[in-house]
Amino acid sequence: MDTDLLVVGSGFFGLTIAERAANAGRKVTVIERRHHIGGNAYSEAEPETGIEVHRYGAHLFHTSNETVWEYVNRFTTFTNYVHKVYTNHKNQVFPMPVNLGTINQFFQAAYSPDEARALIKEQAGEFDVATAQNFYEKGIALVGRPLFEAFFAHYTAKQWQTSPEKLSGDIVSRLPVRYNYDNRYFNDTHEGLPTDGYTAWLERMADHPNITIKLETDFFDASQPFNKAAVAGQIPVVYTGPVDRYFDYSEGALSWRTLDFEQEVLQVGDFQGTPVMNYPDADVPFTRIHEFKHFHPERADQYPTDKTVIMREFSRFAEGNDEPYYPINTPDDRSGLLAYRELQKDEKDVHFGGRLGTYQYLDMHMAIGSALSMWNNKLA
Ligand code: FDA
Repeated sequence: MDTDLLVVGSGFFGLTIAERAANAGRKVTVIERRHHIGGNAYSEAEPETGIEVHRYGAHLFHTSNETVWEYVNRFTTFTNYVHKVYTNHKNQVFPMPVNLGTINQFFQAAYSPDEARALIKEQAGEFDVATAQNFYEKGIALVGRPLFEAFFAHYTAKQWQTSPEKLSGDIVSRLPVRYNYDNRYFNDTHEGLPTDGYTAWLERMADHPNITIKLETDFFDASQPFNKAAVAGQIPVVYTGPVDRYFDYSEGALSWRTLDFEQEVLQVGDFQGTPVMNYPDADVPFTRIHEFKHFHPERADQYPTDKTVIMREFSRFAEGNDEPYYPINTPDDRSGLLAYRELQKDEKDVHFGGRLGTYQYLDMHMAIGSALSMWNNKLA
């Protein structure tokens, strides 16, 4: 095998490892199950309109980690996009996260920050956070019944396909409420979208003579030469696929939520005037609608003025071959994960990383940051 390192998975974690290793003079093979590189950050032009669509859900880059920011800027520049979200509750649009603008619009008032704080405190008094029995009571204890029922209860219930009374209070420790008019979604030092798109960025990371990429190649497919049994003990492996799959689910399958996306090209120039509109009400089955052209206002002269691409997002529990998106983290999952971590200790020269390999939700900057650490501390 003419390779010094095998990387399983070409998401941001795998590509960061591959890029660093290639730069250090190692020969790297990256195998990827899908027909494209990039993992869940992959994007492509919708064929009818040319509008860049994030295939696995909207991806907004943000970080306060200077090392990561310096690193990612080697492969792409970023636009000055700043993420903002709105929410359509009972056919009225409010700014998100809940802030003084949302509160004043909701109560048709002109409260000062202190007046709004006092009002929410009074409304929240219905339950006590310490003794709340479930998500419903805890949510009310955090922000009061009116705001909780309008903006959080059913939205979260739709995400979890479970009524708010049946959801555990553990899924929430705080609910975001701002007592000013700031509706910037992220508060990181750096934020933006890759100027030429995610796929161009990911391709530049992989573009090195020492890197060989093999698409549509599954680590567990014994008919391809870089399969699990063939490489064991032969070459170091960085594995970014699901940790339970690696061990053939011997300690049980870890549970995930998945998303279904319903994409549509509409014959209108502008559908909703903003990139993301949430739908927090129980009678609307989806959680939000993305309108991709608004992620890149600077491309206005390249995108059609009479068409737009929207994507409705539905959330549910993953089963079978569904894409695993968000770890659920039940007590069973936590004990299963600990058991898998024990098993990993016997896997000589196999390094588990990324969101699937560690069963953690990681933002892109976290996946890149943890790959840089793994490279510097373990592999370099
Ligand atoms: P990732 O899942 O990207 O890559 C793993 C790769 O391994 C996949 O390509 C997979 O096909 C491959 N693989 C798995 N098993 C294999 C096998 N047996 N053989 C070969 N290949 C195999 N982050 C952020 O910063 N801002 C945002 O706005 C968002 N938005 C967002 C929306 C949604 C819906 C999700 C689910 C996630 C986000 N993220 C995000 C998070 C972001 O997607 C995440 O940080 C990266 O995908 C992490 O990269 P990884 O390389 O760890 O995994």
